[in-house]
Amino acid sequence: MCGIVGYSGIKSVENVLVNKLKLLEYRGYDSSGIAVKSGENIKVTKAKGEIANLERVVEPLEGATLGIGHTRWATHGVPCEINAHPHLSMNKEWTIVHNGVIENYSALKTELKERDYEFVSETDTEVVVNLIECYSGKPEVKYDLAAIIKACERLDGSYALAVLNRKSDKIYFAKNKCPLYCGVNDGEFMLSSDPICFVGFSNEYYVLENGEFGYYGNGKLFFCDESMRQTEKEPVKLDCSAYNFKNDFSHFMIKEIYEVKDAISNIMEYYSEKSSWRHFDEIDFKSIKNIKIVGCGTAYHAGLVGANIIERQLGAECGVYVASEYRYASTKTDKNTLAIFISQSGETADTLAAEDIACRKGAKTLAVVNVEYSTLAKTADYFLPIKAGVEIAVASTKAYVAQIVVLYLIAARIKSNLGCGETPVKGELERLKNAVTIRNIEHYKRIADELKSRRSLFMIARGADYCTALEACLKIKETSYINANAYYAGELKHGFLAIVEENFYVCVFASDEKLLSKTLANAEEAKARGAKLILTTCCDLENYNKSNFDIIIKTPKTDELLQPAADIVPWQIIAYYISVAKGLNPDKPRNLAKSVTVE
Ligand code: AGP
Repeated sequence: MCGIVGYSGIKSVENVLVNKLKLLEYRGYDSSGIAVKSGENIKVTKAKGEIANLERVVEPLEGATLGIGHTRWATHGVPCEINAHPHLSMNKEWTIVHNGVIENYSALKTELKERDYEFVSETDTEVVVNLIECYSGKPEVKYDLAAIIKACERLDGSYALAVLNRKSDKIYFAKNKCPLYCGVNDGEFMLSSDPICFVGFSNEYYVLENGEFGYYGNGKLFFCDESMRQTEKEPVKLDCSAYNFKNDFSHFMIKEIYEVKDAISNIMEYYSEKSSWRHFDEIDFKSIKNIKIVGCGTAYHAGLVGANIIERQLGAECGVYVASEYRYASTKTDKNTLAIFISQSGETADTLAAEDIACRKGAKTLAVVNVEYSTLAKTADYFLPIKAGVEIAVASTKAYVAQIVVLYLIAARIKSNLGCGETPVKGELERLKNAVTIRNIEHYKRIADELKSRRSLFMIARGADYCTALEACLKIKETSYINANAYYAGELKHGFLAIVEENFYVCVFASDEKLLSKTLANAEEAKARGAKLILTTCCDLENYNKSNFDIIIKTPKTDELLQPAADIVPWQIIAYYISVAKGLNPDKPRNLAKSVTVE
């Protein structure tokens, strides 16, 4: 959460910072701010809410050539101008922007107060900037960077920092457990939480490692470790094609739903190459006695679908865990475990911590991740990309389908490596590609219109269809703030039926042929109590009473293991259109951010 940016160069600093912050807005949009510097003069501008609010109030500072900026997702203190970054030290010698969470900030604050430091905000960040100022005053601390390193040594938690000193024309930076990248181009310098900011700036960039520090100043880019020993770094090539912006779509969310099909094509192309499996194939699958899948939110739901695929394909038990639970549970994990971590961003704090724990317990860890330069992709023993392309909207759509598809391929690959048979993946993925091709958009818009004024919705399903119900609820909740909840259809009579009343909408997911009659019988129980029913199914309904259903969403049939990937797409579209119909911004749900880099 939170995005930071830094720039030094010849262009209008304010414009560069604001424009780059717009690209990082998906990381948080409670408030934002910039600090620009001209000589010893530092001008800070902040605004509550979206970057557009900041843009409205920013005025240029004459002679400013460098600056830092921040878009915030509040962790410590409410979203307001005072808590917005950048923060200044008490004597205004230092200015800072920060992504991450300082866990021991309270103790440090007390310590600084005892040294007569005063604070204006409720943030953990203001503690960091004052700690730097405190160290910089000590006679043994000769360099600005040394003061920053000394302060960082005291911090427990995560941070990506960009720091200015009033008397210096350098931009300092530090990284621990939050992403940070920088690049140079012909006398210009850029620092950012996401390489997306280098599009149109440079063709390559540097990836900062945990525990790395540095600065840019006087045309020199310097990296070092905590002992101020210079570190050598090779730049990474920027893949500009990955950053195709919104084009003619009104929102990223709908654009990304249309890209589901492309994601499947990319996966098919990438994984048809033997070399893509080279590292993964080195795993001794015979030694694997248990498989765990770990993720958060949508990634967790993809894991539920994946576990069903793995269990059905391999006959092996596969446990699925929410990362924030797994990291504190005593779940059996050892050297015979293959632990699969699913994440779009590869930066989710709980998932990273869970991977670290599994690794320390001796498991083989596999990252199934979209952002290929992310921390999780680097730290896991094995890494398989999901090839969905950049996903900007907070609500994950194409990444969800891509995660399921890659898990499907993983199960097929393990089966083949164990000599247990081949799965005709190519044909099945072609079928899925056809199934996710968007048709009937008007039908979905009408459903969205019907549902937009509901305060709550219920979804019922059995088996793997339940994963689709869970994910549909999550999409509706986050984009339109309707309280949507999923129940196993068989649980209806055990409590939830009490809530059903006249005209209450119950959404039924029933694509599993074997369970169809059972699920539809449960739906009838709700109907008998006055519920309105929306059925999503790929099954033939010839032998059923279709008139029981007020609305039917008929999805194309795929391999039953992949059906949840096909069935979710209509609901992604419906969630999108409900949000639009309610006048909300589906790309930026309130209180959420794309990348959850704090616990
Ligand atoms: C999805 O729509 C959500 N925004 C959220 O649940 C997300 O899937 C979760 O935060 C995990 O993120 P990750 O895939 O980047 O790890």
